[in-house]
Amino acid sequence: MSSASALNFGSRLWKQSALRRVTQQSRFLSAGGTAGFDKVGVIGLGLMGHGVCQVAAQSGVHSSVVAFEPEQQYLDKGKDRIEKSIAKLVSKGKLTQENADKTLGSITFTTDMNALADTDFIVEAVIENMDLKRDLYTGLGTTCDAKTIFASNTSSLSIGEMAQFSGRTDRFVGVHFFNPVQLMKLVEVIRTPETDPAVFERAYNWVNDIGKVAVSCGDTPGFIVNRLLVPSIMQAMLMVDRADASVKDIDISMQLGAGHPMGPLHLADYIGLDTCYFIVQGWVDKYPNEPAFVLPKCLKAKVDAGDLGRKTGKGFYNWEGDKRGDPVA
Ligand code: 3HC
Repeated sequence: MSSASALNFGSRLWKQSALRRVTQQSRFLSAGGTAGFDKVGVIGLGLMGHGVCQVAAQSGVHSSVVAFEPEQQYLDKGKDRIEKSIAKLVSKGKLTQENADKTLGSITFTTDMNALADTDFIVEAVIENMDLKRDLYTGLGTTCDAKTIFASNTSSLSIGEMAQFSGRTDRFVGVHFFNPVQLMKLVEVIRTPETDPAVFERAYNWVNDIGKVAVSCGDTPGFIVNRLLVPSIMQAMLMVDRADASVKDIDISMQLGAGHPMGPLHLADYIGLDTCYFIVQGWVDKYPNEPAFVLPKCLKAKVDAGDLGRKTGKGFYNWEGDKRGDPVA
């Protein structure tokens, strides 16, 4: 087997189950589901938010999904992403045209935050900037009904800190989705010591309502997956720093030796090197004595150069759109 076909081998194994998962998300259940969330909101339609909005709408559990972006250009971009993903599912026979129409018809795209006021549950997926989130949650806390439960999709910031800004610490949880949201089955549901257990249970049930699998975790850095995954990606980058092995050989090793669908450096490009950098830098600053949190030189150099992986066409690999090319020399 050549190196290139070996690199693609793991992905092929995963393709079938990934598509099966998408199909499972296209059920139409009774309004409100077991969580009793009839109308939900999603804030931020970027890489993660557009996927959350799509899977929530595709589940058929909600009478309405309010998709909010403060600027029209980002709203349009998010809408376009959802439409393309749905069209792909229809073209592959994974979603009927009828369900696709219902899904899109149930989403209200808006730049007006007041449209979120009477939602039962809001998932926030804006960029990982605590100052931005503070302003957002302060505003939401006054805009939304007392009943509205807030959930952040943050991958590395403190849920408890955001809950304080919202003025409703008992009705605040984390719901951490994985990229690509449409295909990845897991969602971590995060509770703080102040989260009302009944609120947590509803958020947990909602995850199952929309066809995902929920796991529960406390408000700890990286929750479960990123606490294990990100340090292992950093170790792969430290191997690059030390020139222990090539990018290609590190990735093939973890695909064929450990059964991972993507090697760690491929995955880092896929996640976005800026996101990886942001997560780790935040941890290094906040927990300087934790030996698992280290910032590799090659990661910093690539981010400084603007080589952020798939999204910029260059990272550890060259990319053409979603198609990965050869490792960068
Ligand atoms: N919408 C609709 N369909 C989609 C889609 C989307 N957004 N994305 C992909 N598809 C379709 C593709 O068209 C393809 O269909 P086809 O086989 O008929 O052409 C099918 O789904 C599978 O896509 P791929 O060919 O790209 O499939 P792969 O077999 O390579 O699987 C994968 C893709 C599921 C992403 C798999 O490689 C994988 O599991 N990789 C690891 C991903 C991972 O670890 N994610 C977590 C990152 S960490 C994170 O998110 C946390 C954050 O906080 C940092």
